[in-house]
Amino acid sequence: MAGLIPQSFIDDLLNRADIVDVVGSRIQLKKSGKNYSACCPFHHEKTPSFTVSPDKQFYYCFGCGASGSALGFIMEYDHLDFPQAVEVLAKQMGLDIPYEESSLSKGQRQSVDSPLYSLLSKATEFYQQALRTHPAKQIAVDYFKQRGLTGVIARDFGLGFAPPGWNNLIKSLDADDAQQKLLIDAGLVVENADNGRRYDRFRDRVMFPIRDTKGRVIAFGGRVLGDDKPKYLNSPETPIFHKSEVLYGLYEVRKNNRHLDEIIVLEGYMDVIAMAQFGFTNGVATLGTATSEEHVKRLFRIVNNILFCFDGDTAGRKAAWRALESALPHLQDGRKIRFLFLPDGEDPDSLIRAEGEDAFRARISQQAQSLTDYFFTHLMEDAAPNSLEGKAHLASVVTPLLSKMPNSGLKTLMYQKLEDLTGLDQSHLLAIKPISKQPVKNPYNVSAVPEIAINKGTKKIKLAPAMLALRHLLQRPILITKLDNIIDLKEVEGSYGKLLLKTIALLAKEPHLNNFQLMGKLASYDKEGLLANLLNEEPLVNNEENLEKEFIDTILMLIKQQSETQLDRLLKKGSALTDEEKSQLTELLANKAKTK
Ligand code: UTP
Ligand code: MN
Repeated sequence: MAGLIPQSFIDDLLNRADIVDVVGSRIQLKKSGKNYSACCPFHHEKTPSFTVSPDKQFYYCFGCGASGSALGFIMEYDHLDFPQAVEVLAKQMGLDIPYEESSLSKGQRQSVDSPLYSLLSKATEFYQQALRTHPAKQIAVDYFKQRGLTGVIARDFGLGFAPPGWNNLIKSLDADDAQQKLLIDAGLVVENADNGRRYDRFRDRVMFPIRDTKGRVIAFGGRVLGDDKPKYLNSPETPIFHKSEVLYGLYEVRKNNRHLDEIIVLEGYMDVIAMAQFGFTNGVATLGTATSEEHVKRLFRIVNNILFCFDGDTAGRKAAWRALESALPHLQDGRKIRFLFLPDGEDPDSLIRAEGEDAFRARISQQAQSLTDYFFTHLMEDAAPNSLEGKAHLASVVTPLLSKMPNSGLKTLMYQKLEDLTGLDQSHLLAIKPISKQPVKNPYNVSAVPEIAINKGTKKIKLAPAMLALRHLLQRPILITKLDNIIDLKEVEGSYGKLLLKTIALLAKEPHLNNFQLMGKLASYDKEGLLANLLNEEPLVNNEENLEKEFIDTILMLIKQQSETQLDRLLKKGSALTDEEKSQLTELLANKAKTK
C-alpha cells in the first residue's frame, strides 16, 4: 500500500492543473464568454447548463447542481475516490506523487487503510482454505453442489466455509489480545459480555465475502447449511462496513463487464450468484435491507438503467415500492427503471435454474414493467378512480411523490397522466398540500421581511421575496426579459434587496449574461458572499413555467410592498408635500383602490 499523499502536493497539483483541460479531456466543452459550457455529464439534458469557470477553477451545473474542483470532477466522472483521483490527475500532469510514510500521519492513515482490511482478507483466505482442506469440508462442498453451484462460480465469488467449532479463526490467525480486539472491530469475533470470552462469530456456515467497489472484503454473510433460523448471519456494522450502502456483487459486476447498460437488483446472495452462473453477470443484491437512496445513487453512477427483480409476494411488492420511492429523486431523463415480479414462490435463483438463461431473458423483455406502468397500476389498485373522492385521493397520493422527482420529461409526462386520470390540471395538482405537514421553518432568519411560502417537495419553506427573486434570477438570468415593469421597482430593503436592485439594473442592460458572468460583475457589491451562497442552493422550482410565474409573482409582490412603503411615507408627511409628491400620492392611492 502506498503511503500518504502530502497536502502540499495536492495544493501544488491543483495549482498547476487547469480544470478546463481536465474536464475538456473528458467531455466536449464550448467556449461561452469567459467560461466554457457543455451538456452536463452528470444528468441528462439537451441544452447545456454545465459551466466550467477557468477563473474560479470550478465547475457548476445549473441543472442538477453538480459542482467542484478538477479533482472533484475526476472523482465523479471517473468514479474514483480521492487518492485515486489524485493519482489520475498527477499522471495526466506527468507528476510523481511523493508518497510519505510519516509517523505523524498514522492516525490519518487509518481511515485510508484501516487494519481491518487485512484482517478481513486473512479471514477470507481462511474460509476459502477451509472449503478446500478442512476435515469437515465435505458438508459445505455438498451443500454448494446440491444448490447447483459450480467450482468456477464459487471461486469467482470467493465463497468459503466457516467450520464448526468456537475458535477456528482466532486459532488460525494466532491472534494475540490486540489482534483479537481488532477481530472484534472487524465483526469476525464476538466477546461474551458476561464472562469476557471471545469466540468466532461465523461457525458452521458457508461464507459469502462482501466486497467494496475496489474488491476489498469488508464483511461476510454466512448461511447455515440446513434449515435452521436465522438463515443468514451478516457482519455487524463496522468502521468499514455500512450495510445500507453496500450492494452485494457490485464489484464483480464492474469487473466482469466493460460496457454495462443495466444492473439488475435482486434480493439475495444466492440470486446474484445463480444469475451470474447463468450469464447474467450484472446482478447485485441489497443485504436483506430495503433499497436505499444511497444504493440507487451508486447504481446510477455506473449505469443509466436499473431493473429491480422481486418476488411476486406481498413482501416483494413492498420492497419494490420502497425501491421506487428511493429511486424517484434520482430519475433524471435518460435514466430508466424497470420492475420484474416473479411468480409466487420463486426467486431468481430457483427460476433461472429451472428455466435457463434464454427463458429468463424473454421473461425480462416481456414482463418487466416500466416505472410509470408499475407506479400507476400500483396506485390505482386501492384508488377508486371513477369516483370524485377516488380521483382526489389519487391526486393527493401521487403529487407528493412526483414532487420528489427532478425536473424531467418523464415527470411532465407523469403529471399529464395524472391529469388524465383525475381531470385536475397541473396547477391544481401542484397546489395540493401533502397530508402530513412539516412544521414551517424559516431557514434564513429574515423575519423582519414579509415572506413568501413556497412548496418544495413535502416541505413548505418561507423566504424573503428579495432573496427568492435573486435566487430565481441566478438560476435563469434571462427571466429578466419576462418583466415589463422592472423599472417600477426602485426600493427593496435589506442586503438581498440592494443586491437584487443591482442585479436587475445590470441584467436590464445585458440580459444575456450567464450566471457566472453575472456573479463576476456583481462581486464588488456582494461583500458578504450572498450570491455564492444562493447559487449553491438547489433550484427551488424545477419547472420552467413555474419558475417564470414564481419570479413574476415575487417581483409583483415587491412592487406592491414598495407602493405601501411609499404611501406610508407620503401620508406621514402630511401637508408638507411637494407637487410631485402630491401627484405620486394620488397615483398610489388610485392604484391601491384599483387592486382592492
Ligand atoms: P432470502 O430469504 O430470499 O434468501 O433473503 P436467499 O438469498 O434466497 O437464500 P437461499 O436461497 O434461501 O439460500 C434474501 C436476503 O436477505 C438477507 C440475505 O442477504 C439474503 O440473501 N437475509 C435473509 C438475512 O440477512 N438474514 C436472514 O436470515 C435471511
Ligand atoms: Mn433463494
